[in-house]
Amino acid sequence: MTTPAPRKIVFATNNRHKLREIREIMGDGWQVMSLEEIGCHDDIPETADTLRGNAEIKARYVKTHYGYDCFADDTGLLVDALNGAPGVYSARYAGPGHDSAANMALLLKNLEGQANRKAHFSTVICLICGDETRFFEGRVDGEITLNPAGAEGFGYDPVFRPDGEIRTFAEMTDAEKNAISHRGRATRQLTAFLASI
Ligand code: IMP
Repeated sequence: MTTPAPRKIVFATNNRHKLREIREIMGDGWQVMSLEEIGCHDDIPETADTLRGNAEIKARYVKTHYGYDCFADDTGLLVDALNGAPGVYSARYAGPGHDSAANMALLLKNLEGQANRKAHFSTVICLICGDETRFFEGRVDGEITLNPAGAEGFGYDPVFRPDGEIRTFAEMTDAEKNAISHRGRATRQLTAFLASI
């Protein structure tokens, strides 16, 4: 018996870390293509003020301009003591053109002397498949550490320690992070839905 060919779907990102995580979570049954792989080099504007809105903008852009069934994710880190900041603005927390190191440094500075370091990551995935639009959400609760630790993962991973863990996300393997992460939770719902249609 031959193994069926993997089904194709576009993930509206060129973030290689997200791609690697999502491919590992979705498994061999899916050929997940990046924007680059479909020839899209456009800078898709993320102009909404919600994660859901930005995820939908990215997925709809690909469906409209390239015709592929597609999903997109948008993620934010929400810190309780900062009233949910950086939230939807997590990528640009330290200003446009700044990298993850600058974002983390500003976050740690803004939490200096703060006893309440509770935070959560939230991911919203928007899937546009044929005429149907669906959303899937995942969340992981934890704390912002006093200092960065670990070299795995990306973004704010070195300063986020999930509840019940002694390590930050950046001290975990991809598989360990995916098992409990915001993106892992949302992506498993997405995969289950895709398998049902
Ligand atoms: P976006 O979803 O690409 O807009 O990501 C928003 C910001 O959150 C960026 O600064 C990312 O680096 C960061 N980010 C997204 N996902 C993760 C994650 O899984 N861990 C740590 N940081 C993340």
